[in-house]
Amino acid sequence: MDRFVIEGAKRLKGSVPVNGSKNAALPVLIATLLTDEPCVIENVPRLRDIRTTLRLLETLGKRVSMERHRVSIEGGRRLLTRAPYDLVKEMRASVLVAGPLLARFRKVRVPQPGGCAIGLRPVDIHVRAFQAMGASCENEGGDLVITARRLQPCRLRLRFPSVGATENVMMAAAAIRGTTVISNAAREPEIEDLADFLCELGAGVTGAGTSEVRVEGRDRLHGASHRVIPDRIEAGTFLIACAAAGGDVTLRGVEPAHLGAVLAALKKAGVSVTRTDGGLRVVSRGRPRPVSIRTEPHPGFPTDLQAPWMAFMCVARGASRICEDIFERRFMHAAELARLGAWVAFEGNRVTVRGVPALQGASIMASDIRAGAGLVVAGLAASGKTEVQRVYHIDRGYERIERKLRRLGARIRRLG
Ligand code: UD1
Repeated sequence: MDRFVIEGAKRLKGSVPVNGSKNAALPVLIATLLTDEPCVIENVPRLRDIRTTLRLLETLGKRVSMERHRVSIEGGRRLLTRAPYDLVKEMRASVLVAGPLLARFRKVRVPQPGGCAIGLRPVDIHVRAFQAMGASCENEGGDLVITARRLQPCRLRLRFPSVGATENVMMAAAAIRGTTVISNAAREPEIEDLADFLCELGAGVTGAGTSEVRVEGRDRLHGASHRVIPDRIEAGTFLIACAAAGGDVTLRGVEPAHLGAVLAALKKAGVSVTRTDGGLRVVSRGRPRPVSIRTEPHPGFPTDLQAPWMAFMCVARGASRICEDIFERRFMHAAELARLGAWVAFEGNRVTVRGVPALQGASIMASDIRAGAGLVVAGLAASGKTEVQRVYHIDRGYERIERKLRRLGARIRRLG
């Protein structure tokens, strides 16, 4: 199992490009199930979750090829409507095949995703939305079996702005004639990217990025090409890494408008972030001011950057509070940070962090993608040697993070 060895407390300097967004690419790739015609998706990051998605599409009957960051997808006349458990358990976003397959074939069978390291993560919001469209959903041997004699466009309100449920309904609605209106929809930039792709396929989508999304479905959608948006979470991780380790780093190809809450928090912490031509430059020296955050649906502070932020706050000049309001169990990294000498105290969904002058390297373990990224941030800030175990979690969401960090002068090696 790969691990990272980091010799920290070294300032980062230089410039790196930001990849295409994993969380935008996943639904866009899955939305190609809506058409039999060829699609080309550009700016797709080369990650484990993307490989899992491509395997899933192949299992369902698509022909898929990936060359560098470009994915070509063809075929689909005889798609299967059953997603295999071994892929769904590896990646929960596999549940997104339900929407497009249900709309096209009126039945789909997807294993219930089960729990994971950051919480229960049920799919009740997806299920209720499909029911509102006229489908019936049953549990058969751990699988969710969704069928509909007629799937109907409708007005529906999500009980919480779930990103996955919004995407699932948008895809289902795109392939049935008529207008579906989703209120309390998620407003994440990834929703806007999926909306753009659905429009490129021939559907009409308006309101993406607001809490009311209208989808004008068509009986038949056609092939399209699409370029995935930049990864705001990868960008945010690098911004926070530089803020924590100190340095002067420019990120290229980033969309600052997607990072509002993070940029505001960095500014409060005393970190300078300025726009450059097509990028962001972050300059950080000395210990930050403590800044409390609460994770929220977009445009609030993203839960996927909570762990990196906590790592950053471990060396602040004072105490801060981190409230996790999206996932119920997303603090596995806190105990690992304590191994580096951080002062952290839990209380339900809150962690109080009292900054210490410096973290000291130790052996620590990643438990999910973003917790792993938080530990890398901590390792870069810590003096001495930090070993981060279970790097496969980090590889699910970051394309060779160590190479990019090395380009910025970090001393980080991957060992097998
Ligand atoms: C997506 C992102 C993930 C990010 C999350 C929140 C992808 C592939 N993943 O995950 O990186 O952390 O958004 O920004 O895009 N919930 C229910 N019932 C449901 C659906 C969700 O209770 O049917 C709960 C979840 O357990 C969680 C919260 O709602 O507590 C948010 O989940 P959701 O927005 O659906 O996240 P994902 O789409 O799974």
